[in-house]
Amino acid sequence: MKAGFYQFGPVFGDTGANLDKALNALSSEEYDLIVLPELFTTGYQFTSEEEVSYLSEKVPDGPTTASLARLSVEKGCYIVYGIAEKDGEQIFNSAVICGPDGYMGTYRKTHLFFEETLWFSPGNSGFKVWDTEIGRIGIMVCFDWFYPESARILSIMGAEVIAHPSNLVLPYCPDGMPMRCLENSVYAITANRTGTEDRHEDKKALTFIGSSQITGTKGEIIHRASGTNDEIHFEELDLELARSKDFNQYNNIMKDRRPDLYGKLTDDLNDDNS
Ligand code: ACM
Repeated sequence: MKAGFYQFGPVFGDTGANLDKALNALSSEEYDLIVLPELFTTGYQFTSEEEVSYLSEKVPDGPTTASLARLSVEKGCYIVYGIAEKDGEQIFNSAVICGPDGYMGTYRKTHLFFEETLWFSPGNSGFKVWDTEIGRIGIMVCFDWFYPESARILSIMGAEVIAHPSNLVLPYCPDGMPMRCLENSVYAITANRTGTEDRHEDKKALTFIGSSQITGTKGEIIHRASGTNDEIHFEELDLELARSKDFNQYNNIMKDRRPDLYGKLTDDLNDDNS
């Protein structure tokens, strides 16, 4: 599978120009799977509910999904991208997958980060894996990485590669993904953005760290992008390596799990009785 990412710096609120920029970049390359950043059409640092509502769009009926579904059909490839998804009164920080037959599905971010909690509803889709002709593709969005449960669940569901649209501002994720990939024997493609947004007079600017990354099943960093530049990059991934979970002749990392002893993992700590 030839898979990779497109890293760039979206301009806040300029949804048409951001989409055009991505379409140009994605049209001129050949690949099986490409991942775009989280919220790649809108930008990230919203200042009001009205703004989020105005900039969000329906999926699959909005213009972004129409354009990218058309492109994935034309090219016979898979495209995963982050989008502000409007569904009635609710807005989700979502990621969409399109393939050779067009729109395939939507994942709504489970673990919202920082001020996202002001603008977006917590994801209600649950984790999803798409069994495609090029391999099994799971999706998580940015801060989901911080919860090992996300990559674990996707791997238990059979993901061989995790598409990971991101808008990272903290430095930890690129060095954290190797452990997510090693402990699950799965590939990950983290597509981050670059640039700075400074949209509040009284709040800190946000600088996005770039450093998009393709991480291998042994935790190796196959490729890491620069912190600041636009970059489209692909690698050849051998998904056979993600299919076998045998660690040695005695250990299978999935079968050796002990869910009988993991009950606390699903305790709800918001519940006063816990
Ligand atoms: C993030 O979840 N955008 C850090």
